[in-house]
Amino acid sequence: MTARNASAVPGHFNLTARILHWLMATMILSMLFLGAGMVSSLEHRPWMIDLHRPLGIAILMLAIVRLANRLRHRPPPLPSDLPRWQVLAAHASHWLLYALMLAMPLLGWGLLSAGGYPVTLCAGVQLPSIAPVDPTWYAVLRGAHGLLAWLLFATVLLHLAAALVHAWIRRDGVFPSMARGSGNQRR
Ligand code: HEM
Ligand code: HEM
Repeated sequence: MTARNASAVPGHFNLTARILHWLMATMILSMLFLGAGMVSSLEHRPWMIDLHRPLGIAILMLAIVRLANRLRHRPPPLPSDLPRWQVLAAHASHWLLYALMLAMPLLGWGLLSAGGYPVTLCAGVQLPSIAPVDPTWYAVLRGAHGLLAWLLFATVLLHLAAALVHAWIRRDGVFPSMARGSGNQRR
């Protein structure tokens, strides 16, 4: 492997980024399966939807904190010998993941608002409506929520595959920079 870029740049993601990454990865994967469960089982739909709403809104809040942290703290550079198309693909997919982390909860909140349903997080805590009550809006937002869920799932699978190539094949320090942090320098 070629030498890592200059020492002034970080060799790993900061602690906040790493905690939020793994916490949110677990939450988002749970949401994808909860969503799929909700639309395929009438019996389990009520408790699943009761969990889906607050978990989704928590993802929205954490995504805002994470984005702010990402914009304030420079991430470690990718290995200098990584082909240009892979660097572009990594950056594009990371920004797509950020966009979907914000868009998915907003669409979920919007579709319930457009359907005229209350967006209850827990007993006594209800969010305001963010879309006009309108069957056309409901259908569009519901369709977009379902479609983007597939895009999110596909992007996460590609992201997982890329992470494992770095961890097991290239062994270039990209995986430890998100997994363990301090002391792991990218090569
Ligand atoms: C990262 C956040 C989220 C993810 C990954 C996610 C994922 C999903 C998925 C996979 C489905 C099934 C889609 C389908 O096959 O049609 C779904 C449905 C649904 N989601 Fe979400 N969701 C998120 C956030 C939210 C939020 C914040 C709300 C509401 C406050 C919400 C409300 C709903 C509702 C009501 C449905 C059922 C729609 C229907 O009846 O077809 N979602 N979600
Ligand atoms: C829902 C699941 C996941 C989401 C939404 C997600 C999202 C992201 C995002 C947005 C970044 C870019 C960080 C930044 O620039 O601020 C990132 C980096 C990273 N993720 Fe994930 N991730 C997920 C799951 C995973 C899994 C399961 C693994 C490994 C098994 C993984 C490994 C990594 C690694 C190694 C990096 C650093 C990549 C780099 O330095 O360019 N991620 N992830």
